[in-house]
Amino acid sequence: MSQESNQATPIQKGRAWTALAAHWKQIEPLHLRELFANDPKRSERLSLEAAGIFLDYSKNRITDETLRLLVQLAEEAGLRARIDAMFAGEKVNPTEDRPALHVALRAPRGAVLTVDGENVVPGVHGVLDRMGEFSNEVRSGAWKGHTGKRIKNVVNIGIGGSDLGPVMAFEALRHYADRSLTFRFVSNVDGTDFAEATIDLDPEETLFIIASKTFTTQETMTNAHTAREWCLAGMGGDAKAIARHFVAVSTSAKEVAAFGIDTAHMFGFWDWVGGRYSMDSAIGLSTMIAIGPEAFAEMLEGFHGMDEHFRTAPFERNLPVLKALLTVWYTNFFGAATVAILPYEQYLKRLPAYLQQLTMESNGKHTTLAGERVGVDTGPIYWGEPGTNGQHSFYQLIHQGTRLVPADFIAFARPLNALGDHHDLLIANVFAQTEALAFGKTRAEVEAEGVPPDLAPHREFDGNRPTNVMLFEQLTPTALGQIIALYEHDVFTQSVIWNIDPFDQWGVELGKVLAKKIVPELVSQEEPSLEHDESTNALIRRYRSLRGR
Ligand code: F6P
Repeated sequence: MSQESNQATPIQKGRAWTALAAHWKQIEPLHLRELFANDPKRSERLSLEAAGIFLDYSKNRITDETLRLLVQLAEEAGLRARIDAMFAGEKVNPTEDRPALHVALRAPRGAVLTVDGENVVPGVHGVLDRMGEFSNEVRSGAWKGHTGKRIKNVVNIGIGGSDLGPVMAFEALRHYADRSLTFRFVSNVDGTDFAEATIDLDPEETLFIIASKTFTTQETMTNAHTAREWCLAGMGGDAKAIARHFVAVSTSAKEVAAFGIDTAHMFGFWDWVGGRYSMDSAIGLSTMIAIGPEAFAEMLEGFHGMDEHFRTAPFERNLPVLKALLTVWYTNFFGAATVAILPYEQYLKRLPAYLQQLTMESNGKHTTLAGERVGVDTGPIYWGEPGTNGQHSFYQLIHQGTRLVPADFIAFARPLNALGDHHDLLIANVFAQTEALAFGKTRAEVEAEGVPPDLAPHREFDGNRPTNVMLFEQLTPTALGQIIALYEHDVFTQSVIWNIDPFDQWGVELGKVLAKKIVPELVSQEEPSLEHDESTNALIRRYRSLRGR
């Protein structure tokens, strides 16, 4: 069993946690082979269809008693009250003194969700309507560039939540996108990102969306200034061009104006929307231009359906709650360090990267809401690749390595590009992998196949590797909304069990501050600051010398 310290922490002293620790000792030696053999209806009982998602969680190392205790853990942690608090717009992000009301971004027109006594839903729809008008203008060609040419390219400049959501959603919904428009995404401060994204674009036909909640992020502002120079250079330096080629998405009108973008061309959102929870806000402007306002609205409906399910379903029939509790089970009792995200859908190729920010920036915390060391392991490392590519690289370790890697398999019954028998082959691999991971192949089975005794140990599969399978009908905007909301609430539920704040990200600050200090030192002739350590100073000197400074 994994834990951060040897002292029992408040979380570990709870009744459910104590009972789970004892229960784990009984479950750990059990094999999924036995669990299935003793329970012919296991998959029927341990699967759930709700809010558009079918989840088979029967191939997890659990019994009914495990689930009962995990649900008890959620109750003891006060999950019901925390869900209600989040939906009520209470300040569930205390370290930043803010609510986290991303559920309001997809609330239907007419719903009431309040922050400080004000219903925020009309404001949300006001922005969505403006985004819709603007998107339609770009899509129809009515929005012209400065020289009268039609916009053919849209470049989103942002980073973190202001990039990963837009790029993931664009890739995921590319099938539904207007193919006469080209979309590019620039995030890295590495100049190569901007250079390659714009290398074949005509400035007269290019619209930049500068997406930044704060509008002060170093990478985004650097790229935005470079974009402005690139744009002006392409149009004879006429500053009036900016108005037709730049729009902003931000919470800060002041910073947007300071940058030189007319706030009439700004799409706002609010400080109660966390960066990694913002792809369905105005940060999704590039998504809306790509797929159109109607399809964007369908995506929001998908989100909202999952929100309602999470808010109302009993914990034992609640998809995000069950997923989160399983993650806690493996993280804290089995000592698993990671969760693999394995979408068997090429269009979801950026989903693992998106979920890395959502999960790890949210739950990579060591301090509880009470300000104490949490004392148990928190957020696992999320990673993954689309199937079947992963099968030919890292699956070896999941099958026969020494570590336990719980995995989420995501699949769709109907292909978006039906080519011969490709899709049946793809889905056969989902079922084959999860079967192999769960049941493996015993030494006796290997030997019965005639494998020589010296090779048999290498050909044996232990199995007992847990997986979830999510099976959808087809990848649609609605399905994407359901998937993202599922993981958002999964992450929130995990945070409640660990009693941490999933909506702040103080851990990213120190590096930012130090980088600011180091930038002038890279071009200075003076000795690097005595405040740095000796290794950092040596690296600064070596860099200067390699650059001939
Ligand atoms: O990396 C920290 C972070 O604040 C993320 O949480 C956020 O998504 C990203 O930077 C970008 O921030 P902004 O949208 O303000 O530019």
